[in-house]
Amino acid sequence: MTRRGQASEHDPLGAAGAHPAPERSADEPATLATVPIRCVVNGDTVEVPHVWVADSLLFVLRERLGLTGAKDGCGEGECGACVVLLDGEPVLGCLTPALAAEGSYVTTVEAYGEGDEVSAALAAHCGAGCGYCLPGIGLSVRILLARQPEPSESAIREALSGHLCRCLPPGPFVDAVREASAARAAAGLGGSGAHEVGDLEQSQTFNILQNPQGSNDPQQAVAPRG
Ligand code: FES
Ligand code: FES
Repeated sequence: MTRRGQASEHDPLGAAGAHPAPERSADEPATLATVPIRCVVNGDTVEVPHVWVADSLLFVLRERLGLTGAKDGCGEGECGACVVLLDGEPVLGCLTPALAAEGSYVTTVEAYGEGDEVSAALAAHCGAGCGYCLPGIGLSVRILLARQPEPSESAIREALSGHLCRCLPPGPFVDAVREASAARAAAGLGGSGAHEVGDLEQSQTFNILQNPQGSNDPQQAVAPRG
């Protein structure tokens, strides 16, 4: 598995490696209810033989391929815990049909299993939480830093606006992105770590929430569904 290969149009983070996109032959069998799909997941070409038209990409990744990094938080497109990259773009795995991955590149947090600057920064600043939201947030942060090595505070807020955290306030996440930016700059990957500073607590656009249900139990607040 290639962790950090060469970036491309469909794989801006370079996580997919050098594998070509697969093609399905025209005479392969398919039923009315299920079809096989082929795609490149974290650099490996995979085939899932029986995919139901209503199967989500998240379900196939977790239950059929055993890639449980993307989390099933709400199943309704509200929390961002299920974010994965499809052809280099962040998508909600719970709302994306698995069939959409046919012939495409899929990247999950497992592509960064050995860690990188983003993983280290999130662990350092957000380690007090349960970690359930971090795989999805980490992918959004990596996309942000790949496109904006020195993101402003408002850009960080916007990049994370689709993610819900039940454990931590916004500050640690912004600090983590800043630290990851600086670490990437030190590693020659771009970014200086210099960002505008604002009042996080007054932000009306940062949608990472702290325990909106008043629960201190992350398992209660964000119950795994599968
Ligand atoms: S599980 Fe997909 S947005 Fe919550
Ligand atoms: S650390 Fe974000 S949901 Fe627990």
